[in-house]
Amino acid sequence: MNYLSIKDIDDLSGWVQEAIALKKDPLKYQDLGKNKTIGLLFFNNSLRTRLSTQKAALNLGMDPIVMNFGSEGWALELEDGTVMDQGKSEHIKEAAQVISQFCDVIAIRAFASLTDKEKDLKEEILSAFARYATVPVVNMESSVGHPLQALADAITMEENKPAHRPKVVLSWAPHPKALPHAVANSFIEMMQRQEADFVITHPEGYELDPDVVKDTPVEYDQELAFENADFIYTKNWSSFNDYGKVISQDKNWMITGDKMAKTNQAKFMHCLPVRRNVVVADEVLDSDQSIVIEQANNRTYSAQIVLKKILEA
Ligand code: CP
Repeated sequence: MNYLSIKDIDDLSGWVQEAIALKKDPLKYQDLGKNKTIGLLFFNNSLRTRLSTQKAALNLGMDPIVMNFGSEGWALELEDGTVMDQGKSEHIKEAAQVISQFCDVIAIRAFASLTDKEKDLKEEILSAFARYATVPVVNMESSVGHPLQALADAITMEENKPAHRPKVVLSWAPHPKALPHAVANSFIEMMQRQEADFVITHPEGYELDPDVVKDTPVEYDQELAFENADFIYTKNWSSFNDYGKVISQDKNWMITGDKMAKTNQAKFMHCLPVRRNVVVADEVLDSDQSIVIEQANNRTYSAQIVLKKILEA
């Protein structure tokens, strides 16, 4: 069993409830992963994913091995049939098979290039590991999705849900750098599987992949979208159509206390890291409405339920 996207969750509500139970008794299955090794391969930076996935593995009795592949590994060739007489030292075909001999599970973080849309949509590195590895593969954020984050988001929303059907808003916010679409994509796919009134809000030009958004409503007036919301999930992303470009940094889209006042005392969510007073004002992030720290805490239990399912498969 692989965990490459949230499509690999066969029973979303069951996994969320099981993760909440694991949170209450994290060491209950500490023998499940005994003498099993997980290799965590990072082609990009991380704080939460790196530590929470190790913590989840340790809670299950697994031994984590971490490698910063981007800076410490050989440069990997991804194309088949290439004459490897340039900078790439090792083909991913050998690398994936060799790592499979050292590890019982391989987890990979490999972000979008944001320069080559076609290659990014193919999730080149993750897909190659899924093809050539001989052990289960876990996505720790690929060019297209961040399913461990989306599962943590679902756990956090379950813990904070109102008594009524919630209104959930995914809001774009400004950021000085071009950021990938992965977190927004997986959050949208997760919300499409939830009982909720879900709306996306962003400036014109920041439309996400139509194959992900499907028929989810998009409201270009952020303040209108916020009315009566129970959850505000904020994330920046770069343009999908003008691929990887920052086409606007409109400061008016920052999440402020005035905007949160239009909601139904909504909980504020963000996957972190977040730039204060660019994406969200201090007054929101430091308020009781912000649940970002608990959301990050739930990364452990989303990883733990995924690893438990893999170990039990
Ligand atoms: N949210 C998240 O994936 O955080 P890191 O990039 O720090 O792992």
